Amino acid sequence: MNSLSKTLKFQALGFGAKALVYGKAAHYFAQLRTLQGLTHLFFSKEFPTRVRDPELQKTIHRALLDLLNHDANQFASGVYPFSMLRPGSPVKHWMRLGRLLGDGLRIQRQKKKGKTAEFSEEAQDFVHDVPRYYRRNFHFQKDGYLSPESADLYEHQVEILFGGAADAMRRMVFEPLAERWGGSDGRGLRILEVGAGTGRTSVMLRELFPKAHLTVTELSDPYLKRARRQLDESERVDFVQCAGEALPFHSKHFDAVVSVFLFHELPTEVREAVLAESFRVLKPGGVMATVDSVQQHDAPSWSPVLMQFPVDFHEPFFRSYIHEPLEGLFASAGLTSVVSRMGFVSKLVFGERPQD
Ligand SMILES: C[S@@+](CC[C@H](N)C(=O)[O-])C[C@H]1O[C@@H](n2cnc3c(N)ncnc32)[C@H](O)[C@@H]1O
Repeated sequence: MNSLSKTLKFQALGFGAKALVYGKAAHYFAQLRTLQGLTHLFFSKEFPTRVRDPELQKTIHRALLDLLNHDANQFASGVYPFSMLRPGSPVKHWMRLGRLLGDGLRIQRQKKKGKTAEFSEEAQDFVHDVPRYYRRNFHFQKDGYLSPESADLYEHQVEILFGGAADAMRRMVFEPLAERWGGSDGRGLRILEVGAGTGRTSVMLRELFPKAHLTVTELSDPYLKRARRQLDESERVDFVQCAGEALPFHSKHFDAVVSVFLFHELPTEVREAVLAESFRVLKPGGVMATVDSVQQHDAPSWSPVLMQFPVDFHEPFFRSYIHEPLEGLFASAGLTSVVSRMGFVSKLVFGERPQD
């Protein structure tokens, strides 16, 4: 292919990728505004709280567009396959949206009551099997992470919260993997995901490295069950219910360990323990990568937004999280060549286990 046709192909792919990535963001952003409108109508309250400072608003908006452009370029240049952008069933999507807007109003009532550890009978089956710090209604979600209903709504809720940019942020965790193994189908690689939730990242990881062996782990039984359903047809995937701070795997087993939106949910000592365990199970030379919320040192002027987040959504460990730089925790766990990059309200942090 000559250079002109290569350029034209890149531009056409870039246009297609932008249309898909921006189209999705616009779709969820409209849902976010609907939720805000309804909350205002029923409770005369703003939820989620809007950013007041116009300068900060502009900066965050710019960061969102930068991330969407970056993400679209990753598709256009072939780093990610377009199949990752395949939408789910539209019927299920619209049916869920009704339930979800109702749940947004229930969250307001729950917030008002100030109760953060209430569990339905259904969730009682799981509550006693999880650590104490986890027995919470995270985000004021009904049953926290401990019911099938919560697992059903979770991914959609996260996309609304981040105005359609959640997947673009999640995909940042693939960057160090694509830099190292890009172009390969992943044959021979063993990749571990910790705190995989309902499997959103795992599904995309499968598309990126179809022949890699994935080990998908998660503490919540209902969330892991949903992840299993989402990856139903896939071969070479193990599903293991476990805590990230007690990984039931041999040392030096995995080529890469990834996690997305996990560390801000953990108390400090558990954060450290998860990193120590991730280091232990990594092969020398292996890659550890995470995507999570930006922290105070990344963007000091974003402080009002970072302080508001745990107020809007029950996030008991978020304040300690933003003040303890992940880069330092990675280094303390023994990881070297630690790098971090921001993307909208999240950041990618990665490092490697040195050779013995
Ligand atoms: C914010 S969600 C992120 C889920 C998923 N990674 C995603 O991107 O959608 C945090 C996840 O971490 C899980 N989690 C929390 N504490 C954990 C722990 N100690 N070990 C393993 N998973 C944990 C929760 O159950 C939840 O599914």
